[in-house]
Amino acid sequence: MSTIDEIKAKIDIVDLVSEAGVKLRHAGKNYTGFCPFHDNKHTPAFVVWPESGTWRCFGQCNEGGDIFKFVMKREGLEFKDALNKLADRAGVKVESFVTEKPEIKEAHEHLRALLEDAIIFYRTHLFNNKDILAYLHEKRGLTDATIETFGLGYAPPGYDNLLKNFTAKGYKEQDLIDAGMVSVREADDSRNTQHTTRIYDKFRNRIMIPIRDENGKMAGFGARIVDPNDVPKFLNSPETPIFTKGHILYGLDRARKPIRAADQAVIVEGYLDVIALHQAGYENVVSPMGTALTEDQLRLLKRSTRRIVLALDPDTAGQKAVLRGLDAARSAMDREGELGFDARGLLRNEARLQADLRVASMPDDLDPDEIVARDKDEWKRLIENAKPIVTHVMDSLAIGQNLNDAKVKNQIAAQVLPLIEDLPSPLERDTYRQALARMLRVDERSFVGTQAQVPVLRRKPRGADQSQRVEKTQVVALNPTLRIESYCVGVLFRKPALLYRLDRTLQEFGLSALAVEDFEYTDHQLVFGVIRMAVEQDEKDYHHYVLSHLLEMSSDVSKNFLAQAENLEHVENKVFEELISFVIDLRRMKALTNNLQLRFLMEEEQDEAIKKMYQEQSSQLAKLIHNLDQAKKKLSLKRQM
Ligand code: UTP
Ligand code: MN
Repeated sequence: MSTIDEIKAKIDIVDLVSEAGVKLRHAGKNYTGFCPFHDNKHTPAFVVWPESGTWRCFGQCNEGGDIFKFVMKREGLEFKDALNKLADRAGVKVESFVTEKPEIKEAHEHLRALLEDAIIFYRTHLFNNKDILAYLHEKRGLTDATIETFGLGYAPPGYDNLLKNFTAKGYKEQDLIDAGMVSVREADDSRNTQHTTRIYDKFRNRIMIPIRDENGKMAGFGARIVDPNDVPKFLNSPETPIFTKGHILYGLDRARKPIRAADQAVIVEGYLDVIALHQAGYENVVSPMGTALTEDQLRLLKRSTRRIVLALDPDTAGQKAVLRGLDAARSAMDREGELGFDARGLLRNEARLQADLRVASMPDDLDPDEIVARDKDEWKRLIENAKPIVTHVMDSLAIGQNLNDAKVKNQIAAQVLPLIEDLPSPLERDTYRQALARMLRVDERSFVGTQAQVPVLRRKPRGADQSQRVEKTQVVALNPTLRIESYCVGVLFRKPALLYRLDRTLQEFGLSALAVEDFEYTDHQLVFGVIRMAVEQDEKDYHHYVLSHLLEMSSDVSKNFLAQAENLEHVENKVFEELISFVIDLRRMKALTNNLQLRFLMEEEQDEAIKKMYQEQSSQLAKLIHNLDQAKKKLSLKRQM
């Protein structure tokens, strides 16, 4: 149980409210009294539900919440202070608030300084090696100015060049390990059973490419082979405290201004492509580092422009991945925050981040650096002709296919339609449906009923799945509202992309978007509020934003939700179905409870005007309940389809 749940469990809301001077009267399972927050002392419009630990004023305030909200409102406190106060009362220890420690910052600076030193070390070796220089000049067409600008270098062969040089300079072995410059090997010496570890240079006989974060701070290295027989072709620094591949885009420190100026960013797939393009004068180019593109990386770009072009190598992983996403629902989004170059993931993020994502394909099996080497202006044309993702997918699927074949038409339609249906704008959906119909030379109406390709889901072993279900239902039975709320917030905390989808589906059902008011408990309201803001901003990456805001309130709150969402391993679609159906349940439960309560209040009420107000509220709730029932029906129909 989290600290917050413990406090909720230990403090009786009836006691708390009574102690605050509110006289409560038993009314069935609940209590009613005069609202302490507005001054009508004639009618008891304030209701307390001891079971759920919540309260609500049906009168003028028309507001409710839990124990925390009560104390916050009553005493004018921030959540943090209300939490401390109630924790004291409950005898529960609240963990202190975390702040970034200056020691850690200093340690990072030290690692960065070491990496800057390494650049100088590798540079010296590069300019002492005629062969490698010749390769860069002649084979890669790089000028000395470019080599200097990008800080290229050369790691000589041998296992201890850097190690010796740097320890002689006074760096500790641990520093070299922490910075990712050396590898550690455990060596068991069988003769004297002595356990020893050896460290050796990680980068040997490779061209070294310094990787900086968006502010130009040193983060790590990419290293390309010189000997064609070596593997892997590229070796990157390991993840270190200052190098997180998913958070950095190569070249962004230099590309930021040009991206702003051009109001467009281009993403390519290789370091050397970035370098060659910059040299050719196309400076708005960046690349990920051999890993799938992440949402955080898109967010980084989004600070400078919403127009983003993916320049994908032909027939390579990237290009194929765009199409691969069509076959499996196990899109890259399944893995935390990764979108890969996967059409579905990209489209969702495009809409959510309000970006304009396009795809440019490279012709003739050429890499971007080969294209600018062949014809500088060709690059410009290719980027200008970049296509929206859906168009790109349609065109790619059609290549080499016989579009007169009805089976082929059906197959393409079945792959593209789900993508189109996923688009948020009705106008866009219409446009693409028309385009698809034109391409396949069929009537648009024939799409109705086209069986969307059933995605192959990665299933967990049956046993595991079922036991989890049982456990969840049991917990939910304890206090439905609390559990369901915390499940929903937990899911959204972990998979914020679902919020956008949720809002859209609710909207389709004629229901309002998920709001803070949907949650009864203050901690849920706060966390959801932060998630909502995090998703809509693009200054910081999502997790950074959420965590820094939650830490301001309490590390307990965030820990609670991290734990909540930890065993969230369902396939995305299943999680989404559960989420939306829980949100509807939540609203329905709340509406029913409130409506019932209103009827009691109405019976007791003498004042005609207030009675009328209750009536008004009640008929609105009835309408809402009807809509929610309809939505629930549509949802189960959808699931059966
Ligand atoms: P490529 O193999 O296309 O390399 O990998 P490239 O950048 O075009 O290099 P050249 O032109 O052959 O010299 C594209 C990117 O994928 C990552 C690197 O970031 C590379 O720049 N990669 C590739 C790895 O991380 N590891 C590998 O083994 C290969
Ligand atoms: Mn290349």
